[in-house]
Amino acid sequence: MESAASYYAQRAALDWQIEMGVDEALSETPIDRFELVDMPKAKVPAAAAKPVPAEPVEAPRVDAVAAAKAAAAGAGSLEALEAALAGFEHCELKRGARNLVFADGVPKARVMIIGEAPGRDEDREGKPFVGRSGQLLDKMLAAIGLSREESVYITNVLPWRPPQNREPKPEEIAMMRPFVARHVELAEPELIILMGNMSCEAALSKRGITRLRGNWAEAYGRPAMPMFHPAYLLRQPQMKREAWADLLDIKARLG
Ligand code: URA
Repeated sequence: MESAASYYAQRAALDWQIEMGVDEALSETPIDRFELVDMPKAKVPAAAAKPVPAEPVEAPRVDAVAAAKAAAAGAGSLEALEAALAGFEHCELKRGARNLVFADGVPKARVMIIGEAPGRDEDREGKPFVGRSGQLLDKMLAAIGLSREESVYITNVLPWRPPQNREPKPEEIAMMRPFVARHVELAEPELIILMGNMSCEAALSKRGITRLRGNWAEAYGRPAMPMFHPAYLLRQPQMKREAWADLLDIKARLG
């Protein structure tokens, strides 16, 4: 039997709840909410979770120079190197060029010429030095008994024409350097002619063709002669004297 005190206490509690606006029973048994405080919190359903704004996902940066080194190192022949360049997708210049300009002349010749970059004519034909400066180059070579048909191998630092013949960016030169180095290794020339400033920059990390020309240097592990570029000689014909002296020096070295 419940005591009268208990009855009045419960009645008072009920009156208080009614006073507070309680008008409906939620369950048959009472819930002590003070005891619930330490209970583990109910999990919020995933669907109700506030979506966290996604962090912008950056595409992983490709180390183009490392990719170039790997591609070049994997080429075991000149043909494979040409194919590796054709499949190299990290150089912007490729997208604007009509053709890959790889090389011309006699592979494994004693002399290898490294020019700068294809111009419009070279881009159209897919061969280095076929425009006006190429014609002058052929005359210069003929003057010391050389020719691309018989005794010279020719390539460029860049195998794709820069748009509007613009100056190549340092990163483009850096990206192509491993290919040029491998090209030299595979072509095995006895000596190299570095035609113009960009070619010197790629091979010697030096600019200033006026000071560099006429002085033998070492490039890609071989003796190298920096020379004025034929395109420069077309603009400054009075400099042909210096070019002639360099050609004679090359002829003497070949014996
Ligand atoms: N100038 C170069 O350096 N290379 C070419 O192939 C043509 C012009």
